[in-house]
Amino acid sequence: MSALPPHPKLLDLGAGSGRIGWPFVRAHDDYVGVDLSFGMLRAFRQRCAGAALVQADGCALPFADRSFDGVLLVQVFGGLKRWRALIEESLRVLRPQGALLLGRTRRPDGGIDARMKRQLDLILHGSAPPAEAGNSRAEAELQLEERAATVSVIDAATWDATCTPRDFIERHDGGARFSKLPAELRGRALRQLADWAVRQFGSLDARFPETHRFTLRIFTFER
Ligand SMILES: C[S@@+](CC[C@H](N)C(=O)[O-])C[C@H]1O[C@@H](n2cnc3c(N)ncnc32)[C@H](O)[C@@H]1O
Repeated sequence: MSALPPHPKLLDLGAGSGRIGWPFVRAHDDYVGVDLSFGMLRAFRQRCAGAALVQADGCALPFADRSFDGVLLVQVFGGLKRWRALIEESLRVLRPQGALLLGRTRRPDGGIDARMKRQLDLILHGSAPPAEAGNSRAEAELQLEERAATVSVIDAATWDATCTPRDFIERHDGGARFSKLPAELRGRALRQLADWAVRQFGSLDARFPETHRFTLRIFTFER
């Protein structure tokens, strides 16, 4: 198991608008946020002045080998074709004693999002696609598990949320995989989903209380 130093040097790869990164910046941690998108980094900067931010492709990082104690990857792999290259680069810049931290928000399996997702799969594919097929997040996670010397999982945070079918529809329209489908197909599928949700739940604004978790999978490697 790795023993991270007291003040680890952390790379947040695919940092986005700083949803995860801003507390590290505020705490004056040794934190670098990287993102491909200038717009995301600008939003990060607006949220939190003083952050060390670099616009770069995570598949070709402008950092030396073994330069970080931790590499944080939070909701980066979804819909990412080049996930293998992103893993290789993450491991290249990670120090031998370092840890790769994979974070994601988990919603309950029987919750409103899971039900909406299953129905959307039915509309798009006629059935739910196999969980791992073409799912870059699941494939990346599997590869990391196979290569790691140790894997540990922690619920870093849990919180209560109120969800509606409308939230799912609005959020999904910008989702990484879904947005690659033709606009006409997306529009039709979401309209069908909305009709189904109204029949099923009475309204798009029906409110469902749920507990959400932010889970971290921590990988170390023998190198
Ligand atoms: C869903 S967002 C997650 C952002 C942040 N980690 C969070 O959890 O709030 C995914 C981010 O990964 C970035 N991204 C996607 N491909 C990337 C790549 N090849 N290199 C760097 N960043 C990338 C996107 O621009 C986006 O900001």
